[in-house]
Amino acid sequence: MGDGVIGNTLGFGPNVEGSSPSPPANFKQMRITGIILAAGKGTRMKSDLPKVLHTVLGKKLISYAIDSISGIDDTYVVVGHEADQVIQSMPSDIKTIIQHEQKGTGHAVSVVMESTSFQEDNSEYILIIPGDVPLISDVDVEELINKVISSESSVGFLSSHVSNPFGYGRVVRGKDTIEIIEERDCSEDQKKIDEINSGIYCFKKDFLTRYIKELDTSNAQGELYITDLIGIANNEKKDIVIVQVDEHSIQGINSMGQLNEVEDTLQKKIIQSFMEDGVYFQDPTSTYIDESVKISSGAKIFANSHIKGNTVIEENCEIGPNAQINDSHIGQGSKVINSVIDESKIESNGSIGPFAHIRPGSELADNVKVGAFAETKKSKIGKGSKIPHLAYVGDAELGTEVNFSAGAITVNYDGKNKHKTDIKDGAFIGSDVMLVAPVTIGKEAMIGAGSVITKDVPEKSLGIERSDQKNIEGYVDRKKKK
Ligand code: UD1
Ligand code: CA
Repeated sequence: MGDGVIGNTLGFGPNVEGSSPSPPANFKQMRITGIILAAGKGTRMKSDLPKVLHTVLGKKLISYAIDSISGIDDTYVVVGHEADQVIQSMPSDIKTIIQHEQKGTGHAVSVVMESTSFQEDNSEYILIIPGDVPLISDVDVEELINKVISSESSVGFLSSHVSNPFGYGRVVRGKDTIEIIEERDCSEDQKKIDEINSGIYCFKKDFLTRYIKELDTSNAQGELYITDLIGIANNEKKDIVIVQVDEHSIQGINSMGQLNEVEDTLQKKIIQSFMEDGVYFQDPTSTYIDESVKISSGAKIFANSHIKGNTVIEENCEIGPNAQINDSHIGQGSKVINSVIDESKIESNGSIGPFAHIRPGSELADNVKVGAFAETKKSKIGKGSKIPHLAYVGDAELGTEVNFSAGAITVNYDGKNKHKTDIKDGAFIGSDVMLVAPVTIGKEAMIGAGSVITKDVPEKSLGIERSDQKNIEGYVDRKKKK
């Protein structure tokens, strides 16, 4: 059985099988209102966080829902459980309606329809989507809307044949009947049906307004089910459209297990699409990339890399193994090995790690090296400068070609305030130097190893602060005799 319109009495209506292309997109001329259902507690998640605030690859479920119908004129989000927290997490122009008691998906829709602003709304069609189905494809939604409008049907929904239908509403098709029956209300035979309801519907507004009043609570959960409107439409001999879509795109999230399944589905899809764009992955199974990340062709991502948030990886970078990069920009040709980078910018051909920590506000120009056990924070580091080992650079500005040797640090914090260290072009900071900020090291100045520098050092000077070395001859033998 394919997509198409189910006619009122004789089973199938005019444009039956799914292979026939949908008519030209005409919904752009129709006014459509979207309703996102997000009031539920998500009891099966067993978590204090409202369900729609859980994240899939760094993005909240509610944001997926909002983005998936961004082409719709007007959208209402039904909130209820922890409403304030959910409202705060959404863009401020989104209209919210509060469902004080969660009495089911049908009740949630009726709460919107009773609201004054909705009654003033002159839309002709209503699109309903759940807040817990993040992988909805906008192409599928568009096809659903087009088919409902072009066939002048009262309702349409997305369904799918799935490998594990457990927990979903089943699409129960009789000879010339169709209805959706929830898992808990299914007979043993109905539970075997593998075609499930996605929870995504498009209703003709007149139909919804007229028949939503007929929902009742005669079901296992004692709730008003929006799904019952399919059976009602069938009884009323209205046309119903069913568009069958890929099972992954309508995976719902009711439990931590399903959250992990959806995250896994999306992760595979994202990595696959990067591969198609010419990005190499050594081990996709140990690679974690947020939905928001951008990676250019020629980049190589090695095992166990975590790339999160607003991160951009430019051409020909080598990331990992064991890299963790959050909200950062990595310029072309840079290498990041066994290191952590947070909220920072690295220009081209950077060399980071192994075992470096680039902390927020670090800006590294072209050809900068930050090596083993070195940490930078809120610092600008000029072209070609090197911090190759065992160093801390915080609240500092380094010019170009600065050498910051092993064991040297900026002493930026006096216990109360942070102070700046300014190191001009070509300066050479010896090993184990403490630069006590605020302090300026002039252009091409040198600092002797082991110095504690508390005063500015002029250009091309040697700054040195240490006592003269004493050698005590014969000391070791005398000590042994004692
Ligand atoms: C629902 C469908 C089921 C479908 C599945 C797809 C019903 C009765 N069942 O089941 O046929 O296969 O989605 O994922 O609709 N919500 C409210 N207010 C309420 C109740 C729920 O806003 O009073 C919201 C929830 O926050 C959630 C969505 O509606 O985002 C779906 O509710 P949920 O309880 O998850 O329904 P399912 O049991 O998954
Ligand atoms: Ca659900």
